[in-house]
Amino acid sequence: MGGWKRPLSYDIMPREPFHRLAGSLREIGYCPERAAECLALGGTDELYPLDYRYLPRWDDLLSQRPDDLSQAVRLLLLGLPVETARIKESLGSEQTGFLIGTGLAFESGGMLHPRLSIVPFEDLLVATDRLFMNADPESAEPGLSSDNCVWRLDRTTLLMSRKMRRDVTGDVLELGCGSGVLSLLTAKACPEHGRRSAKHVTGVDINPRAVNVAGFNARLNGAENVEFLQGGLYAPAKGKRFDYIFSNPPSAPGLVRAWNREGGATGREMVEEMLKGVGGHLKPGGVFQTTMHFGYREKGDIGSWAGNLAGSGRHEITYDLLGEEEDAETFALREAWQKAGPRDYGLYLRTYRQYSENLGKAGMARLCFGLLTAEGR
Ligand SMILES: C[S@@+](CC[C@H](N)C(=O)[O-])C[C@H]1O[C@@H](n2cnc3c(N)ncnc32)[C@H](O)[C@@H]1O
Repeated sequence: MGGWKRPLSYDIMPREPFHRLAGSLREIGYCPERAAECLALGGTDELYPLDYRYLPRWDDLLSQRPDDLSQAVRLLLLGLPVETARIKESLGSEQTGFLIGTGLAFESGGMLHPRLSIVPFEDLLVATDRLFMNADPESAEPGLSSDNCVWRLDRTTLLMSRKMRRDVTGDVLELGCGSGVLSLLTAKACPEHGRRSAKHVTGVDINPRAVNVAGFNARLNGAENVEFLQGGLYAPAKGKRFDYIFSNPPSAPGLVRAWNREGGATGREMVEEMLKGVGGHLKPGGVFQTTMHFGYREKGDIGSWAGNLAGSGRHEITYDLLGEEEDAETFALREAWQKAGPRDYGLYLRTYRQYSENLGKAGMARLCFGLLTAEGR
């Protein structure tokens, strides 16, 4: 099936049909709690991300359930095809036409096939690339990979959503916004989730596909105080200053610098650029926060490394370790295994050695995922 080569620009489309789609989804109970129940998960955290190993279980489970929510979850969350007539019954003909018209789904042989997923997160509905790219072979898009797709909400998104500032009422900049989910959390007040509304939010991403999908999400969630711009880091926000700048960037030490996960040999390449620009983009007293993979010999290395980059003395640097600390060898074994797999020992060994060498050169004896905060003095 033909790919989504020339995405529509959602920014110029009328808002009402987006609101009606969100309304229909909410009416049938499309929210994190009900979606988790529908898939018999232990809790909503298991949605971010859903574990591919259980797809056959959910496929069987939902095919036995005729209710509207189960069919919407099957199409929009799992990315499995559903009879068009069935989706028309659940969401209505107008919404089904809208899903097709906006390129979120396409019809073939009486079946509706998904091009994107819509993931419920807190009170938001968030379109991302499909959670399971190969679940529906008819939806395959040549050239789309885990490194250039619109980031699927995962553990790092969830951690950042919990740690980020939720009370900012001024101007906000998100670097590497992906689907825009975190920008939308700062843009939309929600007392139930302890969120206030920022005056204006700018989300920037280098991936044009992500910027377009983030625009879809702004409309779907009725956020008018947010704009999504395409470009590298601070470039689209040149000359502006913000009260809060934050990011959940690619930061895993890797073999390349990619858009989504790997941040170069040390994992720090994007974080270093962000820190160098902080002084020029924060308002006095503003706050910068980023998730990252910390790599260090001693934990004290983290503060001095970040402080030097952000401009010594101008910011107070603090950090929280949010995950399990790992030694460099364990990290290198796991990453090389994921990359090279069990089928070619020679490749696995070379990949492992490359990781070990990179980490050794950068003085990273231990690694841990965490949150770095720089507060302007
Ligand atoms: C790990 S994803 C996070 C997406 C989203 N913030 C979230 O937490 O769900 C990292 C994002 O950074 C973007 N990115 C990578 N390099 C970038 C750069 N130099 N400038 C702007 N965005 C970049 C990627 O395209 C990707 O969308």
